[in-house]
Amino acid sequence: MTDTDTYIQRLVVSNPLGEPILRAAIQALQFPPGSRGLDAGCGIGLQALLLAEAVGPAGHVTGLDISPEFLLHGEEIVKESGLSHQISFKEGDVSKLPFEDDTFDWAWSANCVGYAPLEPLPLVKELARVVKPGGSVAILVWSSEKLLPGYPLLEARLNATSSGIAPFIKGKSPELHFLRALGWFREAGLEEPTARTFAGDAYAPLTDDLRSALIALFEMRWPGVETELTQEDRAEFQRLCLPESPDFILNHPDYYAFFTYSMFHGKVPE
Ligand SMILES: C[S@@+](CC[C@H](N)C(=O)[O-])C[C@H]1O[C@@H](n2cnc3c(N)ncnc32)[C@H](O)[C@@H]1O
Repeated sequence: MTDTDTYIQRLVVSNPLGEPILRAAIQALQFPPGSRGLDAGCGIGLQALLLAEAVGPAGHVTGLDISPEFLLHGEEIVKESGLSHQISFKEGDVSKLPFEDDTFDWAWSANCVGYAPLEPLPLVKELARVVKPGGSVAILVWSSEKLLPGYPLLEARLNATSSGIAPFIKGKSPELHFLRALGWFREAGLEEPTARTFAGDAYAPLTDDLRSALIALFEMRWPGVETELTQEDRAEFQRLCLPESPDFILNHPDYYAFFTYSMFHGKVPE
């Protein structure tokens, strides 16, 4: 399996964790029925489906991504969903969007703008450029999680590694951290910038889908983390976080986890 295939598989398998949170975020945005929007850095189009549902049959979503492999996969998913008439995909770079000024009623970007190595401010300006006056720009980031109930110290240490702080990178300017997005919105000239965090939960007894989703999340959240841990923490990590361990934390009858997406929103001046 290639790295791209593995990544796509993890996006699909972990989707049950994010989907209810993203649905709530989309609902809060109240995109007008029949409106046309852009999903920038759409990946395999999982959110384009939710966005298309939100704007209804008269609306349209354009999913843009730099990866042709992701877009091919997205086209298959959309075909299966029966929403092909409402969703189209375009290969392109979010830093140089292949669209005229004022093309869309709104732009959405999840886990792309604000993610290293892209400089966020020019991207927010670029999203604003393609949205009509009065339209909205929303960027979302996976912003936190608590996955190891009863082990706050191990979890804090995992989160203090380079995987734990990703997509932020140690030594980067604090203004580039994704939780500083309000500043990017202000500098991009967007009006009424707001921030809101949406949470999701998972608890025992876990369905097979949620269990697989959490395993995929563990793999995505702390890849290669063991090299940055002390021997003692490494042993604890292997005991609690590897599915083959008899003490794998997802097997605990009282398992509970939560995770959040934070959404930053602003309006293009009229
Ligand atoms: C972490 S994934 C998020 C995918 C999807 N939005 C989601 O939340 O599931 C980041 C996506 O941004 C895309 N991407 C990265 N750099 C990009 C760029 N310069 N222009 C457009 N897309 C880009 C990647 O190909 C990938 O699909």
